[in-house]
Amino acid sequence: MSKLEGMVALVTGAARLRGIGRAIAVRLAEDGADVIVTGLDRDPSRLPPHEQEQGWKGVESVAEEIRAMGRKAIGVHCDVTKPDQIAECVARGESELGPITGLVNNAGIASEAAAASILDMSDDLWHHTIDVNLNGVYNMVKAVGQSMRANGKGGAIVNISSLAGRMGFANYGGYCASKFGVVGLTQQLALELAQHNIRVNAICPGSIDSDMLDGTIGRKAEIAGMGLEEFKAQYNLGIIPMKRRGTPAEQAAAAAFLLGPDAGYITGQTLNVDGGYRMD
Ligand code: NAI
Repeated sequence: MSKLEGMVALVTGAARLRGIGRAIAVRLAEDGADVIVTGLDRDPSRLPPHEQEQGWKGVESVAEEIRAMGRKAIGVHCDVTKPDQIAECVARGESELGPITGLVNNAGIASEAAAASILDMSDDLWHHTIDVNLNGVYNMVKAVGQSMRANGKGGAIVNISSLAGRMGFANYGGYCASKFGVVGLTQQLALELAQHNIRVNAICPGSIDSDMLDGTIGRKAEIAGMGLEEFKAQYNLGIIPMKRRGTPAEQAAAAAFLLGPDAGYITGQTLNVDGGYRMD
């Protein structure tokens, strides 16, 4: 039997072709889960060229990919900062696929695009970053956690934090504070939810090839007057012991492990998946 057989999992922020969220949704399905694939409703004309070329339809494309693997999946537009959308999403997901027993809080934004010190960044950017990256996890956990508690089946939650939730990075605006917050929330939730047989863990990805990374590195490349690929080929690789960036699939493997039965006695932990960059 596949390790996640019988699990209904909800993944947030899974609408992008090259994203960690999509990789997680697909990996959970490979391991046997049915998946509620959620993400923002994005304007098709503003999708990046590699998504437009493929006729990418966001969460619906990911759900189709999973159904083609023989698992159940639905794509639902859901903004993690909007409790009313979350309530609708959870209700629809559970009525179509059954009670949710796995949740991956992956949605996030990187504020470094501003490349400004806290002293100079806009208040709006600070608040928006905290709202998506930290309040979004709170909103999701509250809605899905209440449902898990009510259905009495237990479950597992994985929160995607960041290396920036382990150490400070200059000019990342509210990103570090929000991701440290996710680690703290993970530990608190693990204590509160253990009595309901719900485990809660976090993952700290290092430097992972995705559109988000290209966005943040692209800004640095611009400042350095270099092209993205040229800059990316040298930027920060020297300080990663494994001397390469990670893949979304490697994050997905860690999430599948933490959600599944092999991690049955693991809760409140934060796992760095970062090529050895950080060892505590
Ligand atoms: P990504 O930009 O492809 O994925 C983030 C997703 O969150 C996108 O699909 C975006 O549309 C979605 N999102 C943004 N605001 C949202 C909202 N209000 N409601 C719902 N969805 C929303 O980037 P990536 O790299 O796949 O990031 C996934 C997670 O991994 C994020 O939490 C990020 O902070 C974290 N991470 C990524 C790292 C990297 O190097 N790529 C490093 C460390 C952490």
